[in-house]
Amino acid sequence: MFSCLFPIFEVKIKNAMEKAIFSVDLPLPLFKRGKVRDIYEIDGHLLIVATDRLSAFDVVLPTPIPYKGKVLTALSLFWFNFLKDLIPNHIRSLPLPPELEPYEETLKGRYIVGVKAKPIPIECVVRGYLFGSAWKEYQESGLVCGIKLPPNLKLAEKLPSPIFTPATKAEEGHDVNITLKEMEDIIGKENSQFLVEKSIAIYEKASAYAEERGIIIADTKFEFGWYDEEIILIDEVLTPDSSRFWDKELYKPGENQPSFDKQFVRDYLESINWDKTPPAPPLPPEVVEGTSRRYIEAYRRLTGKDDLI
Ligand SMILES: Nc1ncnc2c1ncn2[C@@H]1O[C@H](COP(=O)(O)OP(=O)(O)OP(=O)(O)O)[C@@H](O)[C@H]1O
Ligand SMILES: [Mg+2]
Repeated sequence: MFSCLFPIFEVKIKNAMEKAIFSVDLPLPLFKRGKVRDIYEIDGHLLIVATDRLSAFDVVLPTPIPYKGKVLTALSLFWFNFLKDLIPNHIRSLPLPPELEPYEETLKGRYIVGVKAKPIPIECVVRGYLFGSAWKEYQESGLVCGIKLPPNLKLAEKLPSPIFTPATKAEEGHDVNITLKEMEDIIGKENSQFLVEKSIAIYEKASAYAEERGIIIADTKFEFGWYDEEIILIDEVLTPDSSRFWDKELYKPGENQPSFDKQFVRDYLESINWDKTPPAPPLPPEVVEGTSRRYIEAYRRLTGKDDLI
């Protein structure tokens, strides 16, 4: 039986009629459709639209989550700004072309315009806590991505200091963890050093801030790209989709942690014994609403704002 691990958050979904959007179809050249974002080309830039799609176990679910795309967009914009002294990013402000006027309502709050960068083919993962694939590797070998960790660490335990655990972006299926040496073979030593230092610095700044607001950033993933001979931060940053957010009040090392992200949906999918191969089953209304509230709550806590439109 599926049971709720969370206290019910006192967050009112502002507009009960808020429409969740599965995809957008704009009169612009399509750059790509990712699992969550529909990306178009616009004046040599990218128009990155965060839909309300949710993927769990690497499969996109048929039921979109109201406000999810708006949370991802607003939270990324908040962090890009918060981090701008540490690293330049892909965000640009560009007016939308007139042909998008009929789509204004659909796009409101869920798009950014960014420069088209050349993505660096490494998922830059930083972990402050031992969880997920790192926990699995640690149990097998005492190592995570080639890094030796102290013995007898517990599940979800805070690490002595944050570690950088790169992965390669798999076209299909799960990303594959690699060692720093393997990363250096792909993008060179100097670039690797730069990305390790930046990623750790970003994590440290953001996680200290989040902790003051009651959220532990257990781990997170950054994507970087080349633009104008410079490395910039691209994609989304420090959202519930790219990170594991835990409630500081509920944190207990040694146990599975309830989180703000899609763990709620994953728990539901486990409870109905879905075999994790497509097609994914639709979500019932209470799971849709509970998930929506969790995304909004993460945004509200981290930014102190309640301004999703
Ligand atoms: N400024 C940018 N320049 C070029 N590519 C970008 C930029 N920002 C984001 N991207 C790419 O856009 C995609 C974002 O879409 P989304 O997050 O939906 O995809 P994903 O399912 O996570 O990843 P993918 O489909 O690449 O496996 C990613 O492939 C990311 O690398
Ligand atoms: Mg993505």
